Amino acid sequence: MKILVTGGAGFIGSHTLVELNAAGHETVVIDNLSNSNRKSLERVAELTGKEIPFYEVDIRDREGLNRVMEAHHFDACIHFAGFKAVGESVEKPWEYYENNISGTLTLLDVMRQHGCKNIIFSSSSTVYGNPAIIPISEECPKGHCTNPYGQTKSMLEEIMMDMQKADKEWNIVLLRYFNPIGAHPSGRIGEYPNGIPNNLMPYVTQVAVGKRTELGVFGNDYPTHDGTGVRDYIHVVDLARGHVAALKAIERKCGIAIYNLGTGQGYSVLDVVTTFEKVNGIKIPYSIKPRRAGDIATCYSDPSKAEKELGWKAQYGLEEMCRDSWNWQKNNPEGY
Ligand code: NAD
Ligand code: UFG
Repeated sequence: MKILVTGGAGFIGSHTLVELNAAGHETVVIDNLSNSNRKSLERVAELTGKEIPFYEVDIRDREGLNRVMEAHHFDACIHFAGFKAVGESVEKPWEYYENNISGTLTLLDVMRQHGCKNIIFSSSSTVYGNPAIIPISEECPKGHCTNPYGQTKSMLEEIMMDMQKADKEWNIVLLRYFNPIGAHPSGRIGEYPNGIPNNLMPYVTQVAVGKRTELGVFGNDYPTHDGTGVRDYIHVVDLARGHVAALKAIERKCGIAIYNLGTGQGYSVLDVVTTFEKVNGIKIPYSIKPRRAGDIATCYSDPSKAEKELGWKAQYGLEEMCRDSWNWQKNNPEGY
């Protein structure tokens, strides 16, 4: 298939490009580089042996999108572009709603005008809020999102479901990611957050490389096996392959389809720290800090629907995630 990848220069997008090309798909990227670097695309070209056509276009730029869609006929779009920092979204709600919601509305409109009504959307387990059932299946009701970022994901899901109800030509796959970490095993592409990392694994790797002195563990009094928060970490290469598998749903004209992408395993913050230490032979100093506002105790998926319907299952475990996160960080201490 020929696929438009929005946000393709970013962390998950770049890994997905590698897997899409390995599976024989043709890809074209648009990205405004607001949270990425075009070097990631050079590295993708190096890994795939293919030049990936790239347009520096903002998804809010209707004319820019029109130009790309006039130059190419796409079978589907995989839509990663958006802002994703939870804390920043609380500080800048307007910017988040405008970029993520207006941007996606413009993209959807231009797509339908060009007759492309197939989209895979990056959603998040954050839409479950404080989940009513663990492990979380797709049947679990959506919950209250405590931040504007999460609201944009939840609202965009609703918007796309309404559009599909009104126009059955749309095929829309909503992928709810759990916690993506790791990097391509080559160490050539990975995640490099701006400023102080919000997320656990980038913080751990920055402690390991000596950029930060110690990890703060946000709370050790949760009702979990060691008191620290439990999450479903998933290797980004597995997540990327989940998008290749999701194209099967598009091919069989799924209408609306929702899948969790996770491993189904929950690990605590301290499990991540001790596994990282063991696999990489590096000590991670840490201290216990108060709970972080908005965090929940436990969140992990029931990923069986994706296995049953798409034949997709995560292959990598926490050890490989820790190995590959470190391999990327140590070889690219300043990112790209
Ligand atoms: P990322 O920031 O690395 O990638 C997003 C890309 O989109 C960046 O390259 C950025 O430059 C681009 N972008 C942002 N706004 C744009 C716009 N208006 N026009 C064009 N390009 C724009 O983030 P990521 O971790 O790769 O996440 C990809 C998607 O997955 C996002 O939608 C994110 O919300 C979602 N997601 C991520 C996680 C996670 O933990 N990383 C979890 C759940 C969902
Ligand atoms: N944590 C720490 N110290 C840190 C960072 C995190 O102890 O410095 C803890 C958190 O309290 C939590 C766990 O590590 O218990 C994971 O935290 P992350 O920030 O890495 O991930 P979250 O589960 O909070 O959220 C992430 C993304 C969301 C996304 C969600 C599900 O930030 O946008 O995964 O995909 F919605």
